[in-house]
Amino acid sequence: MSLAIVTGAARGIGQAIAARLAEAGHALLLVDLDERVHDTAAELGGSGVRADIADPADVTRIVAAVQEGGSAPRVLVNNAGITRDSLLRSMDEAAFRAVVRVNLGGTHALTEAIAPLLVDHGAVVNISSRAQLGNVGQFNYGIAKGGVIGLTRAHALAFAPRLRVNAVAPGFVESEMTLAMPAEVRQRVVDAIPLEVPGQPLDIAEAVEWLASDAASYVTGQVLYSCGGRSFA
Ligand SMILES: NC(=O)c1ccc[n+]([C@@H]2O[C@H](COP(=O)([O-])OP(=O)(O)OC[C@H]3O[C@@H](n4cnc5c(N)ncnc54)[C@H](O)[C@@H]3O)[C@@H](O)[C@H]2O)c1
Repeated sequence: MSLAIVTGAARGIGQAIAARLAEAGHALLLVDLDERVHDTAAELGGSGVRADIADPADVTRIVAAVQEGGSAPRVLVNNAGITRDSLLRSMDEAAFRAVVRVNLGGTHALTEAIAPLLVDHGAVVNISSRAQLGNVGQFNYGIAKGGVIGLTRAHALAFAPRLRVNAVAPGFVESEMTLAMPAEVRQRVVDAIPLEVPGQPLDIAEAVEWLASDAASYVTGQVLYSCGGRSFA
């Protein structure tokens, strides 16, 4: 059985991705800072590692868990991410660094560490965001998620022809991350979506599963927006 590694999988979009990949026949190694990763892993029949993807010592522990797992790693989904929004004109340096460290730095570090272990014709899928096109109050996040797209292309070239590397850019998706936003801001965001409804974690999971599968075997270095049309509206 081939192994899929999913970060940020304790809850939300990552949990839905893990569930979808399990249905598609992958064994799972789930990574998250949140202790709940062990419950999610138990529910889905995989194993869990509590780790910070942006901490080099933790990345070493994740690699060891993959090597000890016994299944051939075929898919890496870099989903873990954070926001630290600010409506102030200038953004606090700590909020800027934290968001770039996790979303971009963690994705880079883990891919560099895991890619050599992935089997030939394996796939990496990175979670970017529609916010990389620009959102008020999210310039740190937009820069980090835009960086993830640059990284996706760089890694697609670096690891071709052995591996494919693609990105999914979700729009507004209902999860703990977005439920933390004030209700009136959430409503304003949903009102701007052409398909008129918020995305669900499963919408993103379906896109990830396709990019990770052999159905997408001629697709690399691409960004798939799953955002209800918000990327051009
Ligand atoms: N929800 C949305 O509307 C939306 C839109 C676009 C992109 N995204 C992206 O999708 C991904 C998942 O978002 P979500 O909505 O499920 O958010 P979420 O906050 O519900 O889940 C994110 C998970 O990542 C984990 N995580 C955070 N930092 C980590 C770290 N350093 N190491 C390991 N795990 C870490 C968290 O503990 C959490 O379980 C994120 O990358 C997010 O930026 C979300």
